[in-house]
Amino acid sequence: MGPILLAENLKKTFSQGGEAVPVLKEVSLQVEEGEFVTVMGPSGSGKSTLLHCLSGLDRPDEGKVLLRGRDLFALSEKDRTLERRRRLGFVFQFFNLLPDLTVKENLLLPLLIAGERPEAHKERMEWLLETLGLAPLRARLPHALSGGEMQKVSIARALVMEPDLVFADEPTGNLSSKAGEETMALFREVRDRFHTALLLVTHNPRDAAWGDRVLFLKDGILAPQAALKGPGLDAARVFSRLEELEI
Ligand SMILES: Nc1ncnc2c1ncn2[C@@H]1O[C@H](COP(=O)(O)OP(=O)(O)OP(=O)(O)O)[C@@H](O)[C@H]1O
Ligand SMILES: [Mg+2]
Repeated sequence: MGPILLAENLKKTFSQGGEAVPVLKEVSLQVEEGEFVTVMGPSGSGKSTLLHCLSGLDRPDEGKVLLRGRDLFALSEKDRTLERRRRLGFVFQFFNLLPDLTVKENLLLPLLIAGERPEAHKERMEWLLETLGLAPLRARLPHALSGGEMQKVSIARALVMEPDLVFADEPTGNLSSKAGEETMALFREVRDRFHTALLLVTHNPRDAAWGDRVLFLKDGILAPQAALKGPGLDAARVFSRLEELEI
């Protein structure tokens, strides 16, 4: 089987105050089944823009995105949305939980949006709640959770539809360093257990080091020769590569 995600020569330029600002100049990447890839880049380097293009939320000016071999932008808007709901999960910096819904109800949301019957997924829901340690919190509202717990809920929510690939945008940005570390360990565990591919963008070298492979976004390019790969991948190696690249 081919890669889960294949992006070729993505370009994206925004117009700011009448001026064209190229954000993605030439980005190609691929993510294999069950692979945990992190993308490291400073603030404003285009990480969120990249995730939006890869997940079909925003159309690149040029280039292709193949999700399990299907050309995302050759689909109609409706089919692209369906593909996104069915195959992709998302985890964000601000958790994006609905404040009036309990933990359990937040987890059910992707099923309801996709028009699935929650009863048909009862077993998996229970299993996710247990496995991710959320069972005791199921009836709570988000405001009564710690940041780390909220992020756990949003990771569980991203997994409800059994996605092929989960995108995470700065998922530790609003967490203490301890909760951030636990969240990164949970991502690793999710990958190991479910064999879900992960693509996580961050400006934190410690987070980036949790990936099987670290890519560096600089000046709109994901320089392939700059990528780091395990074993022995740790924050110190990410730091020194950042220095070499002068990021
Ligand atoms: N819709 C938009 N219109 C105009 N400019 C945009 C738009 N979205 C992003 N940009 C610009 O593109 C550049 C990259 O933004 P992006 O949000 O992708 O960066 P980032 O790496 O995610 O940053 P951060 O680490 O702060 O989240 C920035 O200069 C931003 O101002
Ligand atoms: Mg961003």
